[in-house]
Amino acid sequence: NVGNVAQVVVVLVTGGCGYVGTHTVLQLLEQNVHVVVVDNLAGVTRGNDEKKPTSLERVEELSGKTVDFHNVDINDAESLDKIFKLYRFDCVIHLAALKSVGDSCSLPLDYYRNNVAGTVTLLEIMKKNQVVKLVFSSSATVYGEPQYLPIDEQHVTGQRVTNPYGRSKYFIEEILRDLCTSDPKWSVICLRYFNPVGAHPSGRIGEDPAGVPCNLMPYVAQVAVGRLEKLAVYGNDYSTPDGTGVRDYIHIMDLAEGHWAATKKILKEKGAKAGEEGAGAGGSWLAYNLGLGRGYSVLDVVKCFESVSGRPIAVDFVQRREGDVASSYSDCSLAVRQLEWKASRTLTDMCKYCALWCTFESLHLL
Ligand code: WQD
Repeated sequence: NVGNVAQVVVVLVTGGCGYVGTHTVLQLLEQNVHVVVVDNLAGVTRGNDEKKPTSLERVEELSGKTVDFHNVDINDAESLDKIFKLYRFDCVIHLAALKSVGDSCSLPLDYYRNNVAGTVTLLEIMKKNQVVKLVFSSSATVYGEPQYLPIDEQHVTGQRVTNPYGRSKYFIEEILRDLCTSDPKWSVICLRYFNPVGAHPSGRIGEDPAGVPCNLMPYVAQVAVGRLEKLAVYGNDYSTPDGTGVRDYIHIMDLAEGHWAATKKILKEKGAKAGEEGAGAGGSWLAYNLGLGRGYSVLDVVKCFESVSGRPIAVDFVQRREGDVASSYSDCSLAVRQLEWKASRTLTDMCKYCALWCTFESLHLL
């Protein structure tokens, strides 16, 4: 129940078949939410298009519940509208997006079409169907090069963002802000993820292992389980304690719980109805950091994997990666206060479940 609300809560999750999506859908199901997923399966290892992808089938197995799945692209207004006619959504959790920083630099239009234009289409269909509560998957990349650390929500956004992916998230945050300013009925929460890593303790769901990972944690996990030979460390001459990049890694289970905390809050929000007190003051637009609230270096992660896996991780120190910053980590005290949420899982938990997922997938892929 949400605030002793008796009726079943119905939530649409866009991009619910992906890494963050599956863990968030599982969390919602465990809270007895009726979950509907739309996903174009672009970022997911395909089953056949009509069948639910494996990732969602595993979520159903783990929860013992079913998820309504529709293979729909958020850019497809007509199909999206038909789905909104099938259900009475209490809110939408919007995760669907292209998310590769590297790809966004070479394919910016794909990112603006899919992430920005796709979100505008979703918002138009929501408005048309009087669904005005949205939890949006944003990213710490909206902060650009950190001007101070730890980064809090007051930090400037949209300046010195180093890639079209991060800029697409920033543009969407501002579109949502304008929408809330224009219509007091809207309630929006932007969740700014730092570095989501790890996997469900069952080892049954995790980051899609297709291809060679470009992010640190899944790459090191594959070295730890022997699928990759060694890790190239992108620079060890940063002004950090050991010279390697420092990031705020957050366990995917903590992140999923953060989505539930935001959903509970937004369901209690009463967007001011016209004529009500606060009407005209615009809708409610809020942003929260979701991180662990501390930084770990590349070598911290390597050492943790070595102790978790009991195996040495070979590394090569190579030149810095274009666009990387030295350090980025969060101040999450606002989410602690206002969402009553705090990340609790440790770097060891993250490495352990990452390695478990990787092992499981290796066996599964054999
Ligand atoms: C972490 C650290 C690298 C790989 C990205 C996106 C961000 C978010 C999370 C979506 C850095 C170093 C990495 C490797 C290395 N995604 N590294 N060798 O770049 O902080 O964030 O993923 O929201 O938007 O930008 O994460 O895991 O790629 O890098 O040395 O093979 O590990 O230099 O210091 P990043 P990452």
